[in-house]
Amino acid sequence: MLRQSRNRPDNWAGNLYTKYYGGKKARREFFDALAAWHHPERVLYPGSFIHVTASFVFPSVVYVDIDRNARRFFSETDAVAALIEKNKIFPQKPALVFHGTNYEAAIDEAERSFDLLISFYAGFVSEHCRRYLKIGGILAANNSHGDAGLAFINSGYEFIGVLQRRGEQLRVSEDNLDAYFESKKEVNEEALRKLKRGIGYTKSAPAYLFRRVS
Ligand SMILES: C[S@@+](CC[C@H](N)C(=O)[O-])C[C@H]1O[C@@H](n2cnc3c(N)ncnc32)[C@H](O)[C@@H]1O
Repeated sequence: MLRQSRNRPDNWAGNLYTKYYGGKKARREFFDALAAWHHPERVLYPGSFIHVTASFVFPSVVYVDIDRNARRFFSETDAVAALIEKNKIFPQKPALVFHGTNYEAAIDEAERSFDLLISFYAGFVSEHCRRYLKIGGILAANNSHGDAGLAFINSGYEFIGVLQRRGEQLRVSEDNLDAYFESKKEVNEEALRKLKRGIGYTKSAPAYLFRRVS
């Protein structure tokens, strides 16, 4: 019987994806909700780790992460391509790029060239990567690390919507936006940056949407 080498387990990349993003952990509904509302041609996902679920929904995604396992994952191109092929909802061949780099430094991508910037659990992406978004492009950020709160006070962005649950489904809502980002206690920008996690707001959402205005 053939035995797998200890260092090269069968489909290491597929197994790693299942470990971190199997089933509901994939949070695919976030991308489905965004795609139902907006059709971005180019998507940038800094601090993505191996969350290639975005490529199940969007045909062209650029991932950025400094993590060693993320680098190894994306180097296993056949396994990653097979994973996407099995799950994707669009007919064309997916376009996928990975930069194993710090997103706070320069990313080898043209400025103002992306339609959607994703910021999930990965620090202040809104700030460091705004320059890669087209004017009019969309930032989708959660507030786990305080990035949505920071984007809200950034004059380069306009707050335009939230992802909210309606029954079973996550959907974009553009209603009643004045109710969001009302903080329970007084905080300034400096405190937000230091904290590196979201503060309590009277009304919250799983993710917030902003348009780049400058
Ligand atoms: C908690 S994980 C979140 C992964 C993914 N966004 C998700 O929602 O599942 C945070 C990831 O961000 C990456 N990260 C944090 N700061 C980064 C930076 N400055 N440059 C590149 N990657 C970064 C980490 O390496 C890690 O893989």
